[in-house]
Amino acid sequence: MSSAPTSASRYPIHSLLPEHVPRLAEIRPGFTAHSTLLIRRTGAPPFQSWQLEEVPLHQAFEKGNSYDFDAIEQANIRRRLAQPNTLIEVVADPYTQRLLGILDVEEESWRQSAWVWNLMLDSSVRRQGLGRLLMERCLAWARARNLRAVLLETQSNNLPACHFYARLGFRLIGVNEMFYTNNDIERGEVALFWGYSLR
Ligand SMILES: CC(C)(COP(=O)(O)OP(=O)(O)OC[C@H]1O[C@@H](n2cnc3c(N)ncnc32)[C@H](O)[C@@H]1OP(=O)(O)O)[C@@H](O)C(=O)NCCC(=O)NCCS
Repeated sequence: MSSAPTSASRYPIHSLLPEHVPRLAEIRPGFTAHSTLLIRRTGAPPFQSWQLEEVPLHQAFEKGNSYDFDAIEQANIRRRLAQPNTLIEVVADPYTQRLLGILDVEEESWRQSAWVWNLMLDSSVRRQGLGRLLMERCLAWARARNLRAVLLETQSNNLPACHFYARLGFRLIGVNEMFYTNNDIERGEVALFWGYSLR
């Protein structure tokens, strides 16, 4: 992975502190997608596979800022924060200190890998290399812990994130069509799993 451009370096990045947790909703994680990944089953079990095709949307998909850090998510983050096997960092506005992004990663030692729970940046600071910078920090952290891979999940209707992970060298390693509901394909939101090999 090549290095992040310097414009990203003007944003302070520091460890998440407990007092930041209620402020995580300051980050606006919404995005607009003009196309999506259409998932089709091909073949029949046990020789079934999935075909992914980018299709334009008649109406852009707007994922509002509804991904809220609600009480349950805040409790999850606090729990991870109290553990020694996590990397949880926030990006702040250099002038106002408003939170603009989060990287939230946990080591899963039983399978020698790191799981990215959250990587999100405020809509105002995207495409400046900050996402790459945070992921480089994640990979360096995972390497230092001698882990074999960094793993994460995103959704088939979040094509901007899919392009981002592919660009950073992640491999698409799995499709789970029953991850959110029993009919994710029909709903147009299928869980996609990505992996970055460190060995
Ligand atoms: C996904 C996200 C973290 C990317 O962060 P970012 O700071 O905008 O990405 P960067 O500027 O570091 O881009 C890194 C590379 O990915 C590419 N990239 C980023 N967003 C892209 C997009 N929407 N489409 C195509 N390529 C994209 C960039 O072109 C860049 O490639 P380059 O360095 O070779 O030029 C950010 O868009 C985000 O927070 N989105 C909303 C929340 C979200 O979806 N999080 C992921 C959930 S799993």
